[in-house]
Amino acid sequence: MRTALVVALLAIPAGIAADLAQTPPMGWNSWNKFNKDIDDKTVREIADTMVANGMRDAGYIYVNIDDTWEGTRDAQGNIQTNEKFPDMKALADYVHSKGLKIGIYSSPGPKTCAGYEGSYQHEEQDAKTWAAWGIDYLKYDWCSASKVYQRSEMPKLYKKMGDALKATGRPIVYSLCQYGLDEVWKWGPSVGGNLWRTTGDISDNWKSMSQIGFDKQVGLEKYAGVGHWNDPDMLEVGNGMMTYEEYRTHMTLWAMLAAPLLAGNDVRNMTEETKAILLNREVIAIDQDKLGQQGYRVAKKGSAEVWMRPLENGDIAVALFNRSSGPARVTANWSDLKLSGKHTVRDLWAHNDRGSFQDSFSAEIPAHGVVLVQVKK
Ligand code: GLA
Repeated sequence: MRTALVVALLAIPAGIAADLAQTPPMGWNSWNKFNKDIDDKTVREIADTMVANGMRDAGYIYVNIDDTWEGTRDAQGNIQTNEKFPDMKALADYVHSKGLKIGIYSSPGPKTCAGYEGSYQHEEQDAKTWAAWGIDYLKYDWCSASKVYQRSEMPKLYKKMGDALKATGRPIVYSLCQYGLDEVWKWGPSVGGNLWRTTGDISDNWKSMSQIGFDKQVGLEKYAGVGHWNDPDMLEVGNGMMTYEEYRTHMTLWAMLAAPLLAGNDVRNMTEETKAILLNREVIAIDQDKLGQQGYRVAKKGSAEVWMRPLENGDIAVALFNRSSGPARVTANWSDLKLSGKHTVRDLWAHNDRGSFQDSFSAEIPAHGVVLVQVKK
């Protein structure tokens, strides 16, 4: 028994809290939709809605406040909230009372990206304040740190906050945000990071989403695993500037990438299509697969791409993507998936079994669309 425990602990990279982010974090974040326009009342309403519409029960647990909550420091240097958030502890209590968790945002620099107070020279003090408020998740964004530090100091500075969070004794998921600089995926786990952004900011359009999701993650799969994940940024699903097919491609890619699923829309106000995308349990199950192995591209022919993600039960999630602006037939060859013989195929967007296939599976796919299947072992 004891040996098993020691072996299990040794398997966890140094610096990672053993029980946090065992699967990619799921929840909501204020930035993509609300930007600076976020306040206590809106966060409470978002939390209420996530309970009422089934998001919480589908796994969306973290309610994350991004930049612009920060006020000034008091005479003792304690960070205070601004007028939009009159009482962060009371808000955290409220979010917790709904069976959800709450996240917050800061920077190692003097100012955040939106120009609010950062944690510069107050790292331990801020970590203690957040823990006292009941915060469960921190996104720590480089921003103005570039003005006061050398780039080479980045790992040390991220570790400083990682250690400060750990020292609080409260389990706080630690999200590094420095846009993928200096191959953060190679050192993120050692500074205590549970996830790290791999790119600059996502925007609500096909070009931005598809470049981040398809192209910029290639080769990073070996750095993700249980407790520590690549983060291609928050979801734009439901924000209005992509088509239904494009948003399904977005959600599918993020699930294949074992990416954090942080809804970035106004969940109080969702179309049936948006709900169907965010709440598709079969797709969420791929994202949250316990093996924690990030998926990767196995074939690319023009605009047709096939990606695979090995699953804990021995099945394989296979995504057939059509990146072109017209419909196309895409084929997944068993040989590319290291499979042979006949295999049953289940369609995770249509929620039906497609039948049993020998050697390959093909589908007609609309422009910028996807077919996501689970190929049984
Ligand atoms: C940076 C981050 C974004 C967001 C903003 C807030 O741009 O990458 O995700 O947090 O700052 O100012």
